[in-house]
Amino acid sequence: MALVSAKDMLNKARAGKYAVGQFNINNLEWTKAILLTAQELQSPVILGVSEGAGKYMCGYKTVVGMVKGMIEELNITVPVALHLDHGTFEGAKKCINAGFSSIMFDGSHLPFEENVAKTTALVNTCDVLGISLEAEVGAIGGEEDGVIGKGECADPEECKTVADLGVTMLAAGIGNIHGAYPENWEGLSFTTLDAINKRVNEGRETPMPLVLHGGTGIPDDQIKKAISLGVAKINVNTECQWAFQEATRKYIEEGKDKQGKGFDPRKLLAPGFEAIKAKVAEKMTLFGSVGKAND
Ligand code: 13P
Repeated sequence: MALVSAKDMLNKARAGKYAVGQFNINNLEWTKAILLTAQELQSPVILGVSEGAGKYMCGYKTVVGMVKGMIEELNITVPVALHLDHGTFEGAKKCINAGFSSIMFDGSHLPFEENVAKTTALVNTCDVLGISLEAEVGAIGGEEDGVIGKGECADPEECKTVADLGVTMLAAGIGNIHGAYPENWEGLSFTTLDAINKRVNEGRETPMPLVLHGGTGIPDDQIKKAISLGVAKINVNTECQWAFQEATRKYIEEGKDKQGKGFDPRKLLAPGFEAIKAKVAEKMTLFGSVGKAND
């Protein structure tokens, strides 16, 4: 199957009250592990590529070539979207030209008017090309005395304005943070999520799929509650990195790289690869996307 826009899979997830995972990729092993797991579990999937990871993997064209090649050679038939994660305006244009099927433009740190103007420009381009577009609304609050205990929360009015520009999905802070959550984290703000979900969907025929960034370390019950309040896409990155790290560390600490041909990179990277597969399977099960490939 060719790469697809994330629009259909997210609208179906939103309607069916489950979420599609966005798993960030870093290299061939990561990509293969995620694609094979999605196929085995018959789950739609979104491969996330940050600008940094895109550069590391030798540019967006290399990424598109690798992902398309794998889909064909591994006989992947489930829906796969290749998505730019936290893109700049320039990065978004580059990914569109390189053949990505989905884009996130993150104008959340820009003045609101500039975020709106740049998101609008991309809405038009993506519409014409059939590419899905994620926007992010700026966040308020969060840091106190240099300690981020709460995470940041978006303003429902700003969310409404950006949602109405015609984006496919909307990321808005509800107390979520990338990476590990601090000890004093107060959890997701469901009051904020509920307010955003209600305001954004006023007057809409198809409910807007909301995006939850910072999926690593959010307790299962909070994930489920977020899905019940309109979250249809959940991003996970750090947890896969930890899984890979732990498995690789164990292999080396057990001296397996020194036994026989254990130094062969295909053997050395195998435990990490299997650990990513297990982590992705765990998340797809939690998010409820297993078996939804042909929804
Ligand atoms: P984590 O690294 O916290 O899982 O966040 C991933 C993410 O939101 C990517 O955009």
